[in-house]
Amino acid sequence: MIMSSAKKEIEKKYSNDDIMVTWKPSLCIHSKSCWKGLIQVFNPKNKPWINMEGATTERIKRQVSACPSGALSYKMNNEEDKEEMFTETKVEVLENGPLLIYGTLHVTNSDGSKEQKNKTTAFCRCGASENKPYCDGAHIKLNFKG
Ligand code: SF4
Ligand code: FES
Repeated sequence: MIMSSAKKEIEKKYSNDDIMVTWKPSLCIHSKSCWKGLIQVFNPKNKPWINMEGATTERIKRQVSACPSGALSYKMNNEEDKEEMFTETKVEVLENGPLLIYGTLHVTNSDGSKEQKNKTTAFCRCGASENKPYCDGAHIKLNFKG
């Protein structure tokens, strides 16, 4: 049985008639690919920073799927609330950035707490994250090379 971690993940939700987009700030590695790819929807200068009226649902889905860290995800409004499970695990080393692991992971933290991660999880490689073992985007400020 998986016990949830003491650290509760913050989730922000944004929806239109078709889908609900979830953003988990703690997973965002500030790759900027969302706002460079679709500024009409993902604009960090706006509040709220995600405007679900800025593009079609299909276009928003495509951009959300391109988020490298799993910070962005979406769910169709007419689907049941279920986390997608992956059976295959893939590992990708991001240049000058985190280690991305795709798949369903059971993580035991250094304090013994356990949590389940789905889809994409970014682990810190630079050592500067304040949310270890996960990447919090600090590698960008550090100008990490590796
Ligand atoms: S990690 Fe995802 S949410 Fe964060 S800036 Fe990159 S694409 Fe956007
Ligand atoms: S690799 Fe992103 S904070 Fe360390």
